[in-house]
Amino acid sequence: MKKITIAIDGFSSTGKSTLAKQIAAKLGYVYVDTGAMYRAVTFFAMQNGYINAESLDKQSLINSLPFIKLHFEFNAALGFGEMFLNDVNVESEIRTIQVSGFVSKIAEVSEVRAKLVEQQQQMGKDKGIVMDGRDIGTVVFPYAELKIFMTASAHTRAQRRFDELQQKGQDVPYEAVLHNVEERDYIDTHRDDSPLRKAENAIEIDNSQLTREQQFEQVLTLVSNIA
Ligand code: C5P
Repeated sequence: MKKITIAIDGFSSTGKSTLAKQIAAKLGYVYVDTGAMYRAVTFFAMQNGYINAESLDKQSLINSLPFIKLHFEFNAALGFGEMFLNDVNVESEIRTIQVSGFVSKIAEVSEVRAKLVEQQQQMGKDKGIVMDGRDIGTVVFPYAELKIFMTASAHTRAQRRFDELQQKGQDVPYEAVLHNVEERDYIDTHRDDSPLRKAENAIEIDNSQLTREQQFEQVLTLVSNIA
């Protein structure tokens, strides 16, 4: 089977990463969670005091970009690559509601996007990759052989994220999670640079009513029709 590029885009908490990980494991492909990269830059901005209350010191962040080094390290026990920021594992720090609350504002900064997109394109240059995010099929890999666009209702997605946070012991009210999901949808679809939208040739999967197994089978069938 020839190696292809699989781009999975969609709204927050649509289960993109779960599906992408399963597909990558099945095909022996590399999996890249680009949201983790935007989250790591957000965490860096927080650590360095560039985010105060609701405002971002954009210029300081831009000046610091050459000093932000991101890489993934495969964790065999987990079955996916964990996010490292300047050689420190930040996988759990980047999943907090505080980072979720600011990440879309960091993702609006064109200089941040340019840096991350370039690194993502490098990671995918040999194909055999499943990458998930918001602009993978439109900007990062416009020539990907398979593009998936995932959707589900905001309530379904907020409930999923709420359950995940509870499991990790993060006690956040459901309303706050729903608000975060809706706010990120709005910012992600309205920003000037690379707004979230379905690529023309992407296949839409609304998974509100689908099991994980059904989504997995659906995508595997699509892959076998191409590869
Ligand atoms: O996928 P995840 O929810 O972890 O992504 C966090 C945020 O990062 C998104 O809400 C979006 O603002 C930003 N993002 C982006 N482009 C990507 C991936 C994520 O703008 N390719």
